[in-house]
Amino acid sequence: KIIEIHGREILDSRGNPTVEVEVTAQTETTGKKTTGRESVPSGASTGRFEAIELRDGQERYFGLGVQRVVDHINTKIRKELLGMNVLEQVQIDRKLVELDGTDNKGNLGANALLGVSLACARCAAAALDMPLYRYLGGPNAKKWPMPMMNVINGGAHAKNYLDFQEFMIVPVGAESFPDALRMGAEIYHFLKKILQKEGKLTAVGDEGGFAPDFSNAGEVFACLQRAVEEAGYKVGSDVAFAMDAAASELYSEEDGMYHFPGEAQTHAEVDVNLRRPDTQGGAYTSDAHVKTQETTEKKEILRSAQEMISLYEELTTEYPLISIEDGLDEDDWEGWQELTKRMKEQVMLVGDDLFVTNVKRIRCGMDLKVANAVLIKVNQIGTLTEAMDAIELAQKNGYKAIISHRSGETEDSFIADLAVAVNAGWIKTGAPCRGERTAKYNQLLRISETL
Ligand code: PGA
Ligand code: ZN
Repeated sequence: KIIEIHGREILDSRGNPTVEVEVTAQTETTGKKTTGRESVPSGASTGRFEAIELRDGQERYFGLGVQRVVDHINTKIRKELLGMNVLEQVQIDRKLVELDGTDNKGNLGANALLGVSLACARCAAAALDMPLYRYLGGPNAKKWPMPMMNVINGGAHAKNYLDFQEFMIVPVGAESFPDALRMGAEIYHFLKKILQKEGKLTAVGDEGGFAPDFSNAGEVFACLQRAVEEAGYKVGSDVAFAMDAAASELYSEEDGMYHFPGEAQTHAEVDVNLRRPDTQGGAYTSDAHVKTQETTEKKEILRSAQEMISLYEELTTEYPLISIEDGLDEDDWEGWQELTKRMKEQVMLVGDDLFVTNVKRIRCGMDLKVANAVLIKVNQIGTLTEAMDAIELAQKNGYKAIISHRSGETEDSFIADLAVAVNAGWIKTGAPCRGERTAKYNQLLRISETL
């Protein structure tokens, strides 16, 4: 039985407040008490259809405080959940959703609900003396997830000229999780040396990947290819690539085009220096699909949905790109249909902002034959049960489920256990660097000893 629930405000990896929750339960027969503690992540390039993350507003922490959310946990939610059986996750989550009473969890806050939901699961596993992944997944939880490691950061996660958000290495040739992680970490260090040699910045972005300036995606993949080779691995069979375009961030409803301000900026600088654009590593800015609109001061680079798809096709032809996330805007179902038709055989087409871990949107995508993989972020939907429903729906319909962190994270490692529990096969949790990212990887190392 749940005997105590306590929420508090803590800091996340960006130094912003987030929610932490402790749930304590007592076994009636033995009197044994166990506590589960969990914290809530937070995104920067959030999808428009995500459940609502409540913040205090006003001056404290620039409006990002979560005292109101903590108050909801410590009063309304605590009162209703005390006495419930902590093993009844589905009932607990149903109760949480009911208490909030809105479609988007905007009343109590998805961050309130998720903290409590996850902490209950953590507490239940402890009460049963079980590892979390075993409690969540049962006897069939057995598969380690292939890590998709984000080693170059751009978009909303870094203040560089890279318009696409994430460039990942995927050690597909690895035979075990420790092997996969080692390969990724080695390549990460080779990449750092290459960047240093080229006089590029090696400061990191929000997810631990380096955040230097590149003019376009082709340049990044060429650089990653070098890093993989210098580390002694084969590009393609040992290590493949993945990207998150986070295209909703680039899309403008005004003109229906995708905007590349960073790429335009690097071109402008090249022009000023009277040099030809650097074509090393493929300049994916051929006139065929880029409109360069020159006004008196500003050059713009815009792409239509069709041109975005052509760009992805070119990149996939040139590099072993096995996964493209949010290749188009979260509302462009037609564009997504075309993208899926053209590329589904070669690559994973992952819906993140498109699906927001929401079974309604995933079902819609399936009906429209859109994408072939779903990114799972527990805080996009707000309870563990709903996230598990989304995973189940995906897997039953032949869509891959990729368990994912957020750009704002904590040292919490719940998603590592979740990935193994559901045999997801894939996890996206940043670079092999920075504590809030390695917390997940290190937990997977521990789990993999027992698989
Ligand atoms: P976010 O980015 O956590 O900032 O939303 C992660 C992603 O888009 O996959
Ligand atoms: Zn994404």
